[in-house]
Amino acid sequence: MILVTGATGNVGGKIVQQLLALKQPVRVFVRDESKIAHLGNQVERAVGDFEKIETLEAALQGVDHLFLNTSGFGTQQDQNAITAAQRAGVKHVVKLSTFGAGEPTHAIDQWHYAKEQILQNAGLAWTILRPGQFMSNALQWAGSIKTQGAVYFPGGEGKVAPIDPRDIAAVAVVALTQPGHEGKAYQMTGPELLTVGEQVQTLARVLGKPLQYIDVPPAVADEQMRKRGMPPMLVDALSELTVMLREGRGAYQTNTVAEVTGRPAHTFEEWCREYIAAFQ
Ligand SMILES: NC(=O)c1ccc[n+]([C@@H]2O[C@H](COP(=O)([O-])OP(=O)(O)OC[C@H]3O[C@@H](n4cnc5c(N)ncnc54)[C@H](OP(=O)(O)O)[C@@H]3O)[C@@H](O)[C@H]2O)c1
Repeated sequence: MILVTGATGNVGGKIVQQLLALKQPVRVFVRDESKIAHLGNQVERAVGDFEKIETLEAALQGVDHLFLNTSGFGTQQDQNAITAAQRAGVKHVVKLSTFGAGEPTHAIDQWHYAKEQILQNAGLAWTILRPGQFMSNALQWAGSIKTQGAVYFPGGEGKVAPIDPRDIAAVAVVALTQPGHEGKAYQMTGPELLTVGEQVQTLARVLGKPLQYIDVPPAVADEQMRKRGMPPMLVDALSELTVMLREGRGAYQTNTVAEVTGRPAHTFEEWCREYIAAFQ
């Protein structure tokens, strides 16, 4: 049995779909069962919360492989999940982390590094997935694209190689269902380095309408996040990341998706075609 946490999220949702396509036995760990009503009786359900260890212990009974995607800044959720996995006799944990967690240079990397350490020191077999920026982050532009034909973002000319969450899921599914991935940390990105402007032009081409990219100064973006009530710690971390990306320090690209899955990673244009309805 495979337990998928974060099953209503970008990556976990795709993992569930791909595991079901392979006819694997799947249990999902969710806070709100109504969000997975569409899955019918294809999956087992465990309702719970990372903050409540007893719900994790119940969910992990009879589970061999765990896909772990925790939330929040601290390490308590990971500590709860790993302790529960140890008690339940889980054999292997596949954990979603972030690209820079192996050599953390900023706050978000450091949060993930601390979480990875809990797993790596637990005595369980592990595989860590370290993706770069998700293509699905572009969904945050849908509102202004629909109303103004514009994208406001502090991207500058920095390049990143965004990755399709379907490809992160595909690597996770290989690690969850096939041997040989234990003790490995996979750095993974999409196939092409793109500026935000180039991403916006790709969206414009797929949408068939012109879009304008407005490069928002980082200080203005920082102020807007604070005004929207985002936690100051998160704003600080995102602002730090923004400056790093604008300076080109996020311009890395790997072929891990193809190496692990045996097929090429999706391009940004392919992702746009799949999600075009969200921008129309
Ligand atoms: N976005 C990027 O560019 C990027 C890049 C690298 C790494 N990452 C990392 O990827 C992770 C996010 O993955 P994602 O986009 O797939 O997630 P997501 O779409 O944000 O979904 C989060 C999932 O976690 C569940 N969840 C939240 N709090 C929970 C709790 N207390 N107990 C149980 N479940 C809980 C949510 O369930 P509900 O439906 O109940 O809310 C949801 O299923 C983060 O760790 C992030 O740092 C992101």
